[in-house]
Amino acid sequence: MRNIATTHKIFFGDARKVLQQYVGDESVQLMVTSPPYWNVRDYGHPGQIGFNDTLEEYFFKLDEVWKEVVRVLLPDGKIALNIGNIYYSEPDENRRTTANLTLRLCEQLNKFDEIRFMGTIYWQKTTSREGAVLFGSYPYPSNFMISNAVEPIFIFRKRGNRVVSQEVKERSKVSLAEFRDFRDALWQINGAASDKHTAAFPVEIPRRLTMMYSFVGDTVLDPFLGSGTTTKAALALERNSIGIEIKPAFLEYIREKLNISQTNRSLQELDGFRVEIFNTETGETKVYMSG
Ligand SMILES: C[S@@+](CC[C@H](N)C(=O)[O-])C[C@H]1O[C@@H](n2cnc3c(N)ncnc32)[C@H](O)[C@@H]1O
Repeated sequence: MRNIATTHKIFFGDARKVLQQYVGDESVQLMVTSPPYWNVRDYGHPGQIGFNDTLEEYFFKLDEVWKEVVRVLLPDGKIALNIGNIYYSEPDENRRTTANLTLRLCEQLNKFDEIRFMGTIYWQKTTSREGAVLFGSYPYPSNFMISNAVEPIFIFRKRGNRVVSQEVKERSKVSLAEFRDFRDALWQINGAASDKHTAAFPVEIPRRLTMMYSFVGDTVLDPFLGSGTTTKAALALERNSIGIEIKPAFLEYIREKLNISQTNRSLQELDGFRVEIFNTETGETKVYMSG
């Protein structure tokens, strides 16, 4: 069977503005993302969410993104959101506390009337356990800080139904072994330790989620694209994609990850897949293709 041609749009800009300006109502079947952490990582862009924000500002800004995501999802569209907890210190104490980002983010999504909770996958980042720092009161009780090397992936669906043709269903089939592995609540998958992007997830995460929650030809959205891992999975699985990233300098990582180069050929001339990269600050669009 011939592969279907797919289009991958990557916007450099703020997730909230890009969604508002460029993504239509009910146009996306799946969102897969790992939002920026609060407080810990500086992605080096003034518009980034998380690094310079108070916890309340952080959740306020993310909520604005989720509102847009809910709007652009089609009925029966899915949300797969991965987030970890982080340690920090309150100013009045010289010791660590855990910011319960996972609980608060799950609650934040849960309050949208348009979406319903489907369950939680627990991703155990197997490699990161080895070298984990033994801070806390080691070797003594009683200040054991719980490892953050297990991160939830929350799954929601938008209310409503969709009809999918038998042909598309057949093209999107998963094997029995995959079905069993994927629906297991615990995923033991190595972290993306060698990735140039400091907070990338391994491609196996969006690959599984894309196979589970979308069909061939669907559109997968990642509003916090980073190094392009979600696009890479979508591309390999014959899904279209939309990725949004605040930092244009990450184009270099994205190009490398997708193994693409710029082309002057017209869109009509390209088959297979094409990647359209749009910088919302400069208004510049570039087209990339395989190789
Ligand atoms: C946890 S990382 C995502 C990594 C990605 N899953 C990967 O595999 O490379 C979060 C990303 O969100 C980006 N980001 C932060 N604030 C943003 C905003 N306002 N709009 C869009 N992207 C933003 C950061 O630059 C960072 O690359």
